[in-house]
Amino acid sequence: MSAGPDTGRDAAPGGVGLIWAQTLDGVIGAGNTIPWRLPEDMAHFKATTLGHPVVMGRKTWDSLPARFRPLSGRRNIVVTRDPRWTAEGAERAGSIAEALGLAAGVTGVTDVAEMAAVTGVAGAAGVAGAAAAPTTAWVIGGGEIYRAALPYATTLSVTEVDSPVKGDTYAPTPDAAWTLTRDDGWQSSTSGLRYRIRRYTR
Ligand SMILES: NC(=O)c1ccc[n+]([C@@H]2O[C@H](COP(=O)([O-])OP(=O)(O)OC[C@H]3O[C@@H](n4cnc5c(N)ncnc54)[C@H](OP(=O)(O)O)[C@@H]3O)[C@@H](O)[C@H]2O)c1
Repeated sequence: MSAGPDTGRDAAPGGVGLIWAQTLDGVIGAGNTIPWRLPEDMAHFKATTLGHPVVMGRKTWDSLPARFRPLSGRRNIVVTRDPRWTAEGAERAGSIAEALGLAAGVTGVTDVAEMAAVTGVAGAAGVAGAAAAPTTAWVIGGGEIYRAALPYATTLSVTEVDSPVKGDTYAPTPDAAWTLTRDDGWQSSTSGLRYRIRRYTR
């Protein structure tokens, strides 16, 4: 099912993608960090998101090592309920809808209903059709934000890591509306872990 490296460039242009790495049990985080090291997945994440706006929760922003934030070559949009939150190199959004509106070049969107009004359609199709948005917005975590953004998404990039680690933060579970459209198969990481990168669309 694979056709060369998955750089993410085939994601729906103008749409919303979610990208995460999880264990087979769905763990994505522990103690506000990612409990494994997978250089190949970091390279995949960079290749996929570079040049695109990235949307993340405030806790994921906090979890990034200071030397890596803002993530370079990408607009960093951080979702927080704190109206006074600021950080160098980041744009604040008060909701997922506002964040995705910013990423799509539509300002002043504050809730889902407004997003639907701006785009003419609710949910994923609405964001995908937002004023011919030039680029895919990638939602990069964490658990709370993935769950809130899933209804808007048309693409999921999921790296499965064959690791037994326990955690406290989980990936959302894609329902039957999602189709597995790409599977690069199990690979061996230089870290010793097995992993596979899969793509779902709807
Ligand atoms: N494996 C992976 O691919 C991956 C990727 C990213 C992150 N992670 C991991 O995921 C964990 C963090 O995830 P998390 O679920 O704890 O936190 P998160 O989703 O990163 O951030 C949660 C924060 O986002 C803000 N927020 C959430 N919903 C909102 C809404 N509807 N409107 C406005 N603001 C909203 C709130 O910020 P305020 O409290 O400031 O209001 C909330 O505390 C960490 O362990 C991290 O390492 C894993």
